[in-house]
Amino acid sequence: WEELENACRACNRCGLCRRRTNVVFGVGCKDADVMFVGEGPGEQEDLQGEPFVGPAGKLLDEMLCIIDLDRSKNCYIGNIVKCRPPGNRDPQEDEQEACIGYLHNQIALVRPKIIVCLGRIAAMKLIRPDYRITREHGQWMEKDGIWMTATYHPSALLRDVNKRPEAFEDLLSIREMMRKLKCNM
Ligand code: URA
Repeated sequence: WEELENACRACNRCGLCRRRTNVVFGVGCKDADVMFVGEGPGEQEDLQGEPFVGPAGKLLDEMLCIIDLDRSKNCYIGNIVKCRPPGNRDPQEDEQEACIGYLHNQIALVRPKIIVCLGRIAAMKLIRPDYRITREHGQWMEKDGIWMTATYHPSALLRDVNKRPEAFEDLLSIREMMRKLKCNM
């Protein structure tokens, strides 16, 4: 972990390193059974160095609470890119490629049973490049021994409350899978 985190904190593999305040490495339980992956840090995350601490993060914490998860206890939260894209734009393909190795190493160290992609960017990178979040959220697939799913990004749920009932169903499905796989709580 230490080696990985130090390498990530010193990273200059893409242009995002030039404008960052902090590398946002990840947070949570390092042997969690459930891992959540967002796309990249926003303004608050860049300032504080922790994923999902802005308004979307507050909502994510509430979503986690519904399924008995807590970032300080029993899940791990990371991002596809570790430095803030300017103006909160989507991380570009070359930026994602430069950074994804860190996430793969985090996944290898945590060894989660379940990965939940938050939003389409994470799902396209971790599940399938042509993943359609509106059509496929809540579905499950097994990849390299890990059960993968995606739900709407909390920012999307802040923008459009009509998506929330579907996201709630996704959460129940994650809870069910946690039970089935006897995930540690
Ligand atoms: N949005 C993300 O995708 N990740 C964060 O860490 C914060 C907001």
